[in-house]
Amino acid sequence: MEIELQLQNLEARTLEAISGSSDLGALEASRLEVFNKTSGSVTLLLRGMKSVPAEQRPRVGALVNEARDRIEAAIAARKQVLAEQAQEAALGAEAIDVTLPAPLLALGRRHPIMATWDDIVRIFSNLGYAVADGPEVETEYYNFDALNIGPDHPARDERDSLFVGSNLVMRTETSAVQIRTMEGREPPIQIIAPGRVYRRDDVDRTHSAIFHQVEGLYVAEGVSFGDLKGTLSTFLQQLFDSVPNSSGRNGSLQTRFRPHFFPFTEPSAEFDVWFNGRWLELGGCGMVHPTVLENVGYDAEKYTGFAFGFGIERMAMIKFNIDDLRLFYDNDWRFLSQF
Ligand code: DAH
Repeated sequence: MEIELQLQNLEARTLEAISGSSDLGALEASRLEVFNKTSGSVTLLLRGMKSVPAEQRPRVGALVNEARDRIEAAIAARKQVLAEQAQEAALGAEAIDVTLPAPLLALGRRHPIMATWDDIVRIFSNLGYAVADGPEVETEYYNFDALNIGPDHPARDERDSLFVGSNLVMRTETSAVQIRTMEGREPPIQIIAPGRVYRRDDVDRTHSAIFHQVEGLYVAEGVSFGDLKGTLSTFLQQLFDSVPNSSGRNGSLQTRFRPHFFPFTEPSAEFDVWFNGRWLELGGCGMVHPTVLENVGYDAEKYTGFAFGFGIERMAMIKFNIDDLRLFYDNDWRFLSQF
């Protein structure tokens, strides 16, 4: 019968197209070719049933149904195969080759302030100094009283100091570590104390409300101002790789002691370095005041000592030729990566 032949041909062609479809799109196209409600070949075939003699229609109808079921089963099977293949391909594309070299991480650099801090510690360690430490939240006793800063001294005024409690202040200088170190210990004392300090200060090119100092203290028998001068000279020479002298010729570092007042030293001086056409104050220094020695129970007739407190930012500015210390805190990688 003609319609039976047509059906066999159609099924054979369709099954071939299904097994040959290489992706889900092609498979769907094959499906529509057969089952499309208006133009699908099976649809058209069923319409042709009218020309089939009535007594044969049930048998032919059953044949068509069976063929349709087989085609649908073939489509479902192919669909699963194609879906699995697609998933495998996707997994393959995402696979990580663990034998490839890892991408390079951007490594940070030592911050210029920490680099200077480390240099200071290294140089003073070689000179026989130990590193001492103290709290950043300090009592008024250590921050002021024991350092011979009386209740009426301007350094105690709230304009300079950040109080965090009735008796507690953010340390305004590292000098408190002098007292903490000397307490309960006998000379010789030879320490530096690098650390962070806090002031109610306006920020500008050379000032910050939070900055770093390094305190130095040497107390023993017969320590003189000459020892202070020699120690600072040796230290700065090594820190800046340049010989400090008073003339500043031949690219050497020009420095000066300027008479000054500090409650905890006598005599006292400020110490300046000539930098970019002006004097830059590194910090203060002097001979430890006898009252300070007595405050920690030392015999001020027997022992003398020198002390200094220098700004680490200021030293980093000179060392790296930086004109504005605010750059240290901006955390700009373009700046920091230069050191
Ligand atoms: N503590 C002082 C300041 O912050 C600096 C200083 C001066 C420290 C003289 C000292 C010193 O140890 O002897 O301004």
